[in-house]
Amino acid sequence: MSSGTNDLSSLGIAVVTGASAGLGKVYADRLAKRGFDLILVARRKERLDELSQRLQQSYGIKAEVVAADLGEAGDLRRVSDLIASNERITMLVNNAGTCTFKSSIDLPGDRVQEMLDVNEKSVIHLSLAVLPNFVKRGSGTLVNVGSVLSYYAIPISTAYSATKANVMLFTIGLRDELAASGVRVQLVLPASTDTEIWDVAGVGIGILDPETVMTAEDCVDAALAGLDSGETVTLPSVEDASLWEAFDAARIKLFQGSQTKKPASRYGLAK
Ligand SMILES: NC(=O)c1ccc[n+]([C@@H]2O[C@H](COP(=O)([O-])OP(=O)(O)OC[C@H]3O[C@@H](n4cnc5c(N)ncnc54)[C@H](OP(=O)(O)O)[C@@H]3O)[C@@H](O)[C@H]2O)c1
Repeated sequence: MSSGTNDLSSLGIAVVTGASAGLGKVYADRLAKRGFDLILVARRKERLDELSQRLQQSYGIKAEVVAADLGEAGDLRRVSDLIASNERITMLVNNAGTCTFKSSIDLPGDRVQEMLDVNEKSVIHLSLAVLPNFVKRGSGTLVNVGSVLSYYAIPISTAYSATKANVMLFTIGLRDELAASGVRVQLVLPASTDTEIWDVAGVGIGILDPETVMTAEDCVDAALAGLDSGETVTLPSVEDASLWEAFDAARIKLFQGSQTKKPASRYGLAK
């Protein structure tokens, strides 16, 4: 049991979505260890109850469980309202995500919808629910979990990649928009990590070379170290940080190069 409960409670509450498994469960553990009270969100209530009990006993924090399906409009609204109305919340980790890996023409429509609803829509709505209080206070931390598939699609990941691309641009946009607000925004882009999502995706982690797979603990610890060091984009497994900088610079240069009014000369339309 932590002895510093009262001192630490000034950190406020961290909301972690998808806390019943994988990266979210590790985020919950690490943030509790740092002294945050928690709101744990996912569908599997028994798992959240068990986690909440363990974290409260181990770290002397308070952990509330909110069972919700973030792919359901009513549940998403309920969680958004709860987040918007709780001024003790100082951090939101939008981590919940789902995945089906299949070629696009074989992908069932309901799975596409679920990926759109959980990976994209819930991230946008929950971010926008928490930000007004953060901006008003001039502090707070928003962490959105994308993927290295935010900027790359393999033949079985096209729809999933598209939802994660949305998370990437939404989060970078928020970061730039809120740069002077005192609010911290971090985009986390994990590569292959050993969690249940590979079973959810229908392929199993066995399809991967074990030499390319990170543990969930390493992924979250690196993401938090990146946050502590002031990174706004964290790629836990990428050794050469200048690769992201080059990608980001190319993106900005490409946009600037588009602001010309005229069709490009290669189209032969010069008047
Ligand atoms: N593992 C990887 O290789 C990898 C790589 C890049 C990015 N990511 C991203 O990392 C994040 C965490 O994934 P993970 O790897 O930790 O996967 P995971 O072990 O499958 O955990 C996913 C979490 O999201 C929750 N979730 C899924 N659908 C939900 C819904 N409809 N409503 C509420 N919660 C829902 C799950 O809880 P319930 O089932 O209890 O609802 C679970 O807690 C995701 O955004 C994922 O896209 C993972």
